[in-house]
Amino acid sequence: MIVLGIETSCDDTSVAVIEDRSVRANVVAAQEIHREFGGVVPELASREHLEFIEKVFRAAIRDAQIELNDIDLISVTYGPGLAGALLIGVSFARGLGRQIGIPIMPVHHMEGHIASTYLESDWEPPFIALLASGGHTQLVRVDGPLQFEVIGSTIDDAVGEAFDKTAKLIDLGYPGGPVIDSLAAQGDPQAVDFPTPYVQNKHLDFSFSGLKTAVVNHRKRYPETRPADIAASFQRVAVGALMIKIKRAIQQTGLKRVTIAGGVSANSELRRRLSELTDDGVEMHLPKLQFCTDNGAMIAMAGLNRYLHQPQLADQPIRMIPTQSLNEVSVHAV
Ligand code: KG4
Ligand code: ZN
Repeated sequence: MIVLGIETSCDDTSVAVIEDRSVRANVVAAQEIHREFGGVVPELASREHLEFIEKVFRAAIRDAQIELNDIDLISVTYGPGLAGALLIGVSFARGLGRQIGIPIMPVHHMEGHIASTYLESDWEPPFIALLASGGHTQLVRVDGPLQFEVIGSTIDDAVGEAFDKTAKLIDLGYPGGPVIDSLAAQGDPQAVDFPTPYVQNKHLDFSFSGLKTAVVNHRKRYPETRPADIAASFQRVAVGALMIKIKRAIQQTGLKRVTIAGGVSANSELRRRLSELTDDGVEMHLPKLQFCTDNGAMIAMAGLNRYLHQPQLADQPIRMIPTQSLNEVSVHAV
């Protein structure tokens, strides 16, 4: 089946075309406008989506070398996300669906992130997925195409948010994740002994606000510490906290199969440490980087999975899940 996927929940306008699990086009317009504000400005995000969506859609159709009539299904993110931003994608999908006369499958953003693991791969459940991005940090147990159980979540900040806030504190700009990642390569990861947050317990939840506060306090007391040393030390501890909980999840579930998704999965230290798990007999699947950050292909994939198992969900009234902040995001238990 040929599926068009539309993602506009935050600050990336993306339209993709997949044919079963293979990606024929995945066009992403990342909104640069938010950089100067140090975070996503919801009003500007909607305006930019409106500006970009038509062009991004045309580019995707062109790259995929298809005609409109070749599309069998449209998948669109219905939430969680910024209300005005979601509305642009959903309205575009609806107009297009009417025009071509094909069904529309609404897709939960987090289900989309999980589905990125199937793109251009023959990876199948069961597995544990770490979803780590600017708005969410979760461990999800996936036992089937539509069987999800959230086994761990952040109780405060998302890990990507901690990267972004730390970068802001040491004047590195936004989004902070990629900048910290590259700056960390020039720093000493042992330079600052930040406490590893929220690991003296038995559960799988995360907490990152204490780490952020530790960076603030350190900055006040030792303003001379090199930003590269703060970046490297912060990254060691943040990634370390993720690793501890992943290992614990493997132990508690007995599932030795792990995948990752969300923007933070682009982090080089996390990827390196995850790949070391294979030495302990853990089967790892790291999706391509372009499928890890927000993109239309993952939404197309999740929509196709839904359609194959629950076709009745297509063309139901779309109820969006608007959020003020992406922190409210959590995958729905199905
Ligand atoms: O999934 P995503 O594109 O958007 C959502 O938040 O849903 O993730 C963006 C987040 C940002 O917080 C960004 O700083 C973080 O992913 N990120 C990274 C890296 N690349 C992106 N964090 C750490 N290291 C990276 N290389
Ligand atoms: Zn996301």
